[in-house]
Amino acid sequence: MQEFIITGGHRLSGELTLQGSKNSSLPIMAAALLGGGETVLKNCPELTDVYSASRILNCLGCKCRISDGIAVIDPDGAEGSEIPETLMREMRSSIMFMGAILGRTGECTVSIPGGCELGPRPIDMHLAALKKMGADISDKGGRIHCRINGGRAHGARITLPFPSVGATENIILCAVTADGETIVNNAAREPEICDLCRFLRVRGADIKGDGGSSIVIKGVEELHGCEYSIMPDRIAGATYLSMTAAAGGEMILKNACTAETEPFLTVLEQTGCTICTGENRIYLRSSGRLKAVRERIRTMPHPGFPTDAQAVLMAALIRADGTSVFEENIFDCRYRHTAALIKMGADIEVMGKVAVVRGVTQLHGADVEATDLRGGAAMAAAALSAEGTTHLRGIAHIDRGYEKFEEAVRSLGGDIRRV
Ligand code: EPZ
Repeated sequence: MQEFIITGGHRLSGELTLQGSKNSSLPIMAAALLGGGETVLKNCPELTDVYSASRILNCLGCKCRISDGIAVIDPDGAEGSEIPETLMREMRSSIMFMGAILGRTGECTVSIPGGCELGPRPIDMHLAALKKMGADISDKGGRIHCRINGGRAHGARITLPFPSVGATENIILCAVTADGETIVNNAAREPEICDLCRFLRVRGADIKGDGGSSIVIKGVEELHGCEYSIMPDRIAGATYLSMTAAAGGEMILKNACTAETEPFLTVLEQTGCTICTGENRIYLRSSGRLKAVRERIRTMPHPGFPTDAQAVLMAALIRADGTSVFEENIFDCRYRHTAALIKMGADIEVMGKVAVVRGVTQLHGADVEATDLRGGAAMAAAALSAEGTTHLRGIAHIDRGYEKFEEAVRSLGGDIRRV
């Protein structure tokens, strides 16, 4: 098993061009299955999750190949409707292929995705919505089989009980070529939803309202191929900004999506960092001795503070002057990284969905293991601001969502190597 060896305790400084968004690439790759014509995706991050999505597409009969940050996907001739258990296990967010497979073939067989490091990951909202669009759904030993009589979904009026990102994506993917109009109320407003809809509109889809709480999709007969550039990864950006804020120093983040990163920047600025945003760039300067964030940091659906940035911001605040309080409102179990941070000297108390972080003056290196994607990145960020050396295991989690992570950290002057 590979690990990172990180030696911290010194300031960071450098420039970094931000990778393409994992959480945008995955639904867009699923969307490439719909309709006809070749899709060329630029700024496609080379991540293990993206390679998993590519394997799923090829298994369904698509031709998908990825090289040098460009994915070329040709769905013509793809007739598959089943994702094997092995591929479902590789990546729980494979569930978002359901809408696309149903949209293309009128039926779909997938596994119920297991819980993950963040707690149980139910898909009740996905299934309820697809049923409203005409899918008959049966559960056969942990495998979900959906079938639409007549092969084509019909439009529906759907109100989500919670603005689920994945459920919103699955509805859009099933609705774009359905018969009639679909209205999604209480839809997720995440920037990655807008990126998916922009991609689909370029291909000929009729979608309005994305970015707001109500999205209207009018089914069309055809979608054609296109060339599209995936948006930057706002969470990877938040990660590297938090890293530099924690260790002290300055950095320029290039190819950044400044507007989409605002909900995070608004909180990071309260720590006393200097932040300037310009044309697709974010500049940060930090003394390395941050102020605690006075207001409670509540994770919320976009445009609230993003849950995916909770762990990395916590890593920046464990050496802050004062006490910060987090409230994790999206996932049941998203504080598993705190044990490793405590092992490095942090003072964190978790009580249900609240984590109280009392700033300490010094962290020290330790042997720790990543628990999940963002928790692992948080441990690396903490290690860079700790005295001494940290051995970070379980870095396969980090490779799922961060492209060339150690190269990115080294471009900021961080002392990290993969062994
Ligand atoms: C997406 O996950 C992202 N993943 C997550 O990023 C992100 O944290 C999350 O949205 C919230 O922003 C991808 O885009 C691949 P949800 P998703 O459906 O779609 C509950 C990362 O680190 N829920 O918005 O699974 C669910 O249990 C990952 O990049 C139901 O109860 O998130 C959770 O508590 C982690 N029933 C909450 O809603 C459902 O049918 C939000 O989940 C669906 C969801």
